[in-house]
Amino acid sequence: MVKFGILVSGTGTNLQAILDAIAAGQLPAEVGVVVSNVPGVLALERAERAGVPTRTLSHRDYASRAEFDAALVRVLEEAGVDWVVLAGFMRLLTPTFLRAFPNRVVNVHPALLPAFPGVNAQQQAFDYGVKVAGCTVHLVDEGTDTGPIIAQRAVEVRDDDDLEALRLRILAQEHALLTDVLRSIALGGLRVESSGDGRPKVRIESP
Ligand code: GRF
Repeated sequence: MVKFGILVSGTGTNLQAILDAIAAGQLPAEVGVVVSNVPGVLALERAERAGVPTRTLSHRDYASRAEFDAALVRVLEEAGVDWVVLAGFMRLLTPTFLRAFPNRVVNVHPALLPAFPGVNAQQQAFDYGVKVAGCTVHLVDEGTDTGPIIAQRAVEVRDDDDLEALRLRILAQEHALLTDVLRSIALGGLRVESSGDGRPKVRIESP
């Protein structure tokens, strides 16, 4: 059974969606460990309530990004995870980390990449005045939200929306999209195809 390591930094609603899907028998996988870079966040409580091992690695305790990432890799390897999922994780990962899990790190981003990468993506879209927003699940590469796209979902922006209404509408789709992608990974895996124009394309393997 595929084992996921989940990295979190805060609220953990994406983590909760994964835990709920597993508990409901909709995601045939297990969570080996949940690691937060911030102590005491709600995401850690969610993991503990589900009986999932947790660790906190504060990036402030490490002299460099590479040293933090090396410690993170050790924790994930000790937990025997096959894939790493960034679920509201707010740090960039270095090549040190990505080399340990090549094409095996998945992130959920609250915008239709390549539009609005980086932080506060929902605010960027809202302020821009888009009529369609959404979310993306992608493989993580060394850039900021630039890795090969696995799946996306569009979300309508309504004229009477405020930022919070839009953020919540996107978040609900993040939960559905992320658990759908993890189910595909658990059942069949992903195939990354290099293509002529240089950007690799991700294909979901059918079970
Ligand atoms: C989500 O919108 C996620 O896309 C972004 O952080 C937000 C909070 O995620 N990276 P969560 O509730 O901590 O899972």
